[in-house]
Amino acid sequence: MRRIGTFPIVVIVLVAIYAATKWGIPAFSREVTALPFPLPVPRTLMLFYMTLAVVAMFLMVTFSEEGMQDFLRPIKKLLRGGYGQIARALVLLAVPAIAAWQTYEMTVPRVEVPLSLRIQHPSSNFPVSSESLENPFNHPSDADIDAFIEQARANEIEFIAQVQGDIDLWADEWDPDHILEFFAAEPVKKFLAELEEDNVSHATAEAALMEKNLFEGRALYAMNCRACHGDSVAGDGPMADGFKLRPINFTDNGTIETIVEGYTFWRVTNGGPGLPTEATPWDSAMPEWKLSLTEEQRWKIILAEYNLAQKTPRIPEGHE
Ligand code: HEC
Repeated sequence: MRRIGTFPIVVIVLVAIYAATKWGIPAFSREVTALPFPLPVPRTLMLFYMTLAVVAMFLMVTFSEEGMQDFLRPIKKLLRGGYGQIARALVLLAVPAIAAWQTYEMTVPRVEVPLSLRIQHPSSNFPVSSESLENPFNHPSDADIDAFIEQARANEIEFIAQVQGDIDLWADEWDPDHILEFFAAEPVKKFLAELEEDNVSHATAEAALMEKNLFEGRALYAMNCRACHGDSVAGDGPMADGFKLRPINFTDNGTIETIVEGYTFWRVTNGGPGLPTEATPWDSAMPEWKLSLTEEQRWKIILAEYNLAQKTPRIPEGHE
């Protein structure tokens, strides 16, 4: 059996590693992620792999004098015309030609696609019916307030499941007279005092209910939105730097303050995937919250979002 020479081995290994990183890894990534597109290997990483491969091949070839001779044999043979005059001429022309072509490719000026401006608040596919939506937790109905007063009288306040566990723990430890003592806020204290005297006013109850809803909204915000939009709602959460299109800073005057509540609700509901093309020169990482949050949860979060940012939504046209 004829031994394969060192030179062909070096060529085959380098080509194989190049092919594996350029096409193999992206194809494999597609299998693993099940995404409709492959994940390419970054160019710097390719350079890394290829440099390492070349260094390894260099070590292998120069390990012994015989190895070096074996590697150089076909090259010398070619240069001496051992494979024929034509083959030699072709190779001697091809090497500088490929180098020239690559140099040209790298230096030729390219026409870049002009940067298009992104529209932050696109409305082309915003359903007009959403325009006048109001946050039900901003102005709870009389029935809701009465129900809250009843629950408070019976000391059986209903909390959302996400905060119930913490409140139960707190109650076990402190054994309060009333579960609403959990909230140190002034409006709740006033409400509890009025309950004691059995002289509850609607306004006080409404203010106390607001504190409870805000607490729940803040908890849901911390669980779902904080990673991107940040504790301070300034778009500086721990994940924010990972996105080219940064999560919105709600304390900025140009964001949630300039839009009506119904619009904020629609944006939170449909996320990045719901944006029309004029808003997508870059893809938005904003998730589609209708998939994982109920309507009630989304409204509570929005209540907390405006409150944390100390902003009020724009009032819809024709409303006072
Ligand atoms: C994975 C990161 C991420 C998470 C989590 C996230 N967002 Fe966003 N959000 C973004 C990005 C990025 C933008 C900016 C791009 C855009 O407008 O879609 C954005 C935009 C928004 C906007 C549009 C504001 C405006 O003025 O146009 C609202 C409102 C919003 N987010 C609310 C929320 C709420 C509420 C939650 C939690 C339920 C949340 N976001 C969770 C990344 C995120």
